[in-house]
Amino acid sequence: MARKIVVTSALPYANGPIHIGHLVEYLQTDIWVRFQKARGNLCLYFCADDTHGTPVMIRAREDGIEPEELIERVHAEHIRDFTKFSIRFDNYYSTHSEENRQFSELLYKRAVDNNSIAKRDVEQAYCVQCDMWLPDRYIRGSCPRCKAPDQYGDSCDACGGTHRPTELIEPVCANCGTEPIRRTSVHYFFKLGDYTDRLKKLIESGHTQKSVLNKLNEWFDAGLRDWDISRDGPYFGFKIPGEENKFFYVWLDAPIGYMASCKNYCDRHNLDFDKVWNSNEYELYHFIGKDIMYFHALFWPAMLISAKFKTADKLFVHGFLTVNGQKMSKSKGTFIKAETYLAHLDPQYLRYYYATKLTSGIEDIDLNFDDFITKINSDLVGKLANLASRSVPMLTKKLDGTLGRLDQKGAKLVRILQGAKEGIIADFEELNYAAAMRTISALADESNRYFDRQQPWETIKTDPEKTRATLTAAINAAKILTIYLKPVLPAYAETVERFLKIGPLGYADVDSVLEEHTIGRFERLVERVEKEKVEAMINQSKEQAPDATPDAQAASVEPIEPECSIEDFMKVDLRIAEVISAEPVEGADKLLRLQLDVGNVKKIVLAGIAKAYKPADLIGKKVVCVANLKPRKMKFGVSEGMILAAGPGDKDIFMLTVDEGAKPGQRVH
Ligand code: 2FM
Ligand code: ZN
Repeated sequence: MARKIVVTSALPYANGPIHIGHLVEYLQTDIWVRFQKARGNLCLYFCADDTHGTPVMIRAREDGIEPEELIERVHAEHIRDFTKFSIRFDNYYSTHSEENRQFSELLYKRAVDNNSIAKRDVEQAYCVQCDMWLPDRYIRGSCPRCKAPDQYGDSCDACGGTHRPTELIEPVCANCGTEPIRRTSVHYFFKLGDYTDRLKKLIESGHTQKSVLNKLNEWFDAGLRDWDISRDGPYFGFKIPGEENKFFYVWLDAPIGYMASCKNYCDRHNLDFDKVWNSNEYELYHFIGKDIMYFHALFWPAMLISAKFKTADKLFVHGFLTVNGQKMSKSKGTFIKAETYLAHLDPQYLRYYYATKLTSGIEDIDLNFDDFITKINSDLVGKLANLASRSVPMLTKKLDGTLGRLDQKGAKLVRILQGAKEGIIADFEELNYAAAMRTISALADESNRYFDRQQPWETIKTDPEKTRATLTAAINAAKILTIYLKPVLPAYAETVERFLKIGPLGYADVDSVLEEHTIGRFERLVERVEKEKVEAMINQSKEQAPDATPDAQAASVEPIEPECSIEDFMKVDLRIAEVISAEPVEGADKLLRLQLDVGNVKKIVLAGIAKAYKPADLIGKKVVCVANLKPRKMKFGVSEGMILAAGPGDKDIFMLTVDEGAKPGQRVH
């Protein structure tokens, strides 16, 4: 019997645009939902904008508009971007809604009634100038530890340390620069600690992936602290019943937004909300990023338990996105808005690429643009789309577009593709999309090999019916691959369905064979990615960076990397080396190929110093070399070591040179 499933993705904040980091989650969820639908299950996908809180209030003030106007505008922008990426919600709602207000009040009232709410005085920073309570991120000052200027109230980007806002040296309001005052007021707390045993039981029952258990256990070991669920006005949010100037903290009503979105959908579709949201007839899954686990694995289920609602069947947690191996960066142009991406590249590329990288783990996934271009051009275009584009036009042009029957070899190929179905289903179900994509790509290879062996472009000259049988097999293979890919590439699948003249395909159609059927004219499925377009997208993102001016860039300090121990550092074997030869590297304007004499050994090192040093000036120089660096295969050859040089880049790179008399191979410290 078909399953009934409700799925949510985390609600994006209404104070900013969707970017490619967000899209990891929405694509992961959308693929899963589409997969469930293609399996014939009823699957409802709910989301909404997360509209309340200080950032939205400030952003609206900056723009000189009311928060309501801001959230309406952003809502339309979010829907526009999601739609272009084929992310298809059954309902995309807003936390600033009547349904959400009612549920927030209901959950709060039930928590009050069962004695889960406490009141306590809280001292907090307040900006008189802005007439606003300041969350930690809105207070800036010098780090109490390393004295770096202009750090947030909770942590320092320069030394990575954490602190309280009261510890900052010369704190100011991030908004207006005034020194905040301290004020005390009564806050409401949800007594999370009272739910420890019930939450432990829930987690032990398999509420999340195994890989997140360690983190959760750390939190349990540290003890669950009461959670401050109120904020004093002015605040953009829902008023706490019975209070004049107190509001629910945004994180209280945000997850309740899942329920509100579901309720709004049920009301519009004549469905019973209690059944859809709160009965065992429907499964419930939340997709989230690992940064908001505390809220979803602890606060949220505790609130649901308190209010006597069921908790989700499972929380699916994913990692962050890195781009070219690093955190997304505005100045590097890798903080790419969905809108910017769409101005340059086909959204299907990103859907496909993320699918090849996503697993059920919580490791970060890396968008490497060289790999992205290779995967799209050689796999998606060169293998998958290629199979259809070489077989369909031949059938329509030479054989009236009519499929014949499978011959023995063709039937064997189709059976191989059909045989992979259960494995692919299991991989999608368990969020191992990368594995499913590997299988699909291998099946495309198999199908293309079949096509090459059968040589239909030759047989067509002498044996049209044999050719028809070959093309029938190839087109059936293309059809099956399209079904497998449909959750990932819905637009691609729709085009295939159109030219094959077959109804919306689902996983059940894998088992039926298309024979003696007339197809339509081929339509192009996907174009190759051009490197220039990727570069143009990155350049545009750089230009959009608010801190694109040199001054501001100099002021933004990248966080210090995690500590490395002295033992690790001592593994680096530094030796004197003499530069024997130095030459430019063709195609790489920053690299020089150096041959080094390191005593008993010679090493070839590719060094990124070409903008700072002329090759001729280097010959005979004594430099310091990391002699035990594992050889690295780079695009322009293998580099067998590294010379010590550092600097911001280009001409500003400074090589460490040593006395002429130093002996190559001599160890230095
Ligand atoms: O972290 C965020 O982007 C939040 N806006 C997610 C909220 S998810 C849910 F709880 F609403
Ligand atoms: Zn201020």
